[in-house]
Amino acid sequence: MTKVLLTGGAGFIGSHTGLALLQTGHQVVVVDDFSNGNAEAVRRVAELAGLGPWGQAAADHWAEAGPGGSRLHLIQGDVRSPQDLDRAFAVSGGGIGAVLHFAGLKAVGESMTQPLRYWDVNVTGTVRLLEAMVRHGCQTLVFSSSATLYGTTDTVPIPETAPLQPINPYGYTKAAVERMLTDVAASAPGWRIALLRYFNPVGAHPSGRIGEDPNGLPNNLFPFLCQVAGGRRQRLDVFGGDWPTGDGTGVRDYLHVMDLAEGHGRALDVLLAEPPQLLTLNLGSGQGHSVLELVRAFETTNGLTLPYAVVGRRPGDSAVSVADPRQAERRMGWRTRRSLADICRDGWAWQSANPQGYRSNEWHPTGELIGAQQVS
Ligand SMILES: NC(=O)c1ccc[n+]([C@@H]2O[C@H](COP(=O)([O-])OP(=O)(O)OC[C@H]3O[C@@H](n4cnc5c(N)ncnc54)[C@H](O)[C@@H]3O)[C@@H](O)[C@H]2O)c1
Repeated sequence: MTKVLLTGGAGFIGSHTGLALLQTGHQVVVVDDFSNGNAEAVRRVAELAGLGPWGQAAADHWAEAGPGGSRLHLIQGDVRSPQDLDRAFAVSGGGIGAVLHFAGLKAVGESMTQPLRYWDVNVTGTVRLLEAMVRHGCQTLVFSSSATLYGTTDTVPIPETAPLQPINPYGYTKAAVERMLTDVAASAPGWRIALLRYFNPVGAHPSGRIGEDPNGLPNNLFPFLCQVAGGRRQRLDVFGGDWPTGDGTGVRDYLHVMDLAEGHGRALDVLLAEPPQLLTLNLGSGQGHSVLELVRAFETTNGLTLPYAVVGRRPGDSAVSVADPRQAERRMGWRTRRSLADICRDGWAWQSANPQGYRSNEWHPTGELIGAQQVS
């Protein structure tokens, strides 16, 4: 059992990973500024992990929820703030053994109009986090990297050794952090760092209680498609019908977010069990599916019809992006287990039960509550 700090643990991938970690016996401390995450997600993680009841009525039990004492803590804080990070590292007596760093900004288009914000949160935020890790004697880190690093390559499937050639500020920040973490790992003995390059994480926990809840217009295909299915958007625009693929639409490697969450658990196990190292792994299914295949699978699995229109290509997109995931299997015995149908069923279970995401049932712990549980 390890006490794990999850930056961005109130977001999409962080909340699912927090649940997977709690279910395998770890303790979890979440630090999130809620800029794109929601306290309600963490409350539901507690509920799914059997730690409840949580809520306003049980506010004073927030830090003590769950069997065996404090298994889950939530700190509202910014990774760029040394004070907020110190609070998170000190919660419930300290002893953070590893950090999973999800906090960051991830919208490619927005990164082109607000590059400084992306460099600040993604890069400066990681510098501040590493400084805090040094202060608190923690040298184990799993970083959320991205297949966006590979740019518009023609290589299929893409191995970890492929050249890194990002093409937008979001991708540059991920490349910069990977470079920085490589330098840090080489600078002193003892660092255990995993760079996990995700392909296209989608779907939701099968309970339908937690899922992806982007602010505003979704950037990615799957949450957009779910919102069209739920009637929140009128139609799905498919960018490009003339790619050199089977049906002319782009091909991507979709992986179920619970497979991804379990991949983080495996990466943590490997880092903690093996000598210090820098581990770089693709996390993907190794299977490519076109946009239209995904649309059809969603329709068939859920018995509905999705209005869509094929429109022009988007700049910066590529025809095919599929992982070579064999290293992840070799190094940590991980591969995806869930199918495209599982992804479509679980994604729709979340969307249909939460048409407005967490906003339909938001939970706002007060400043006092969050303050009250900073120290046990
Ligand atoms: N979802 C994807 O398709 C995908 C693909 C590859 C990589 N990634 C990376 O994985 C990570 C998690 O992605 P996600 O899809 O869960 O995104 P998300 O936006 O749902 O989660 C990120 C979380 O970080 C929080 N956050 C943002 N800035 C913060 C700050 N300064 N301090 C504290 N918290 C902050 C947000 O409130 C949010 O809860 C990101 O780093 C992203 O770049 C995501």
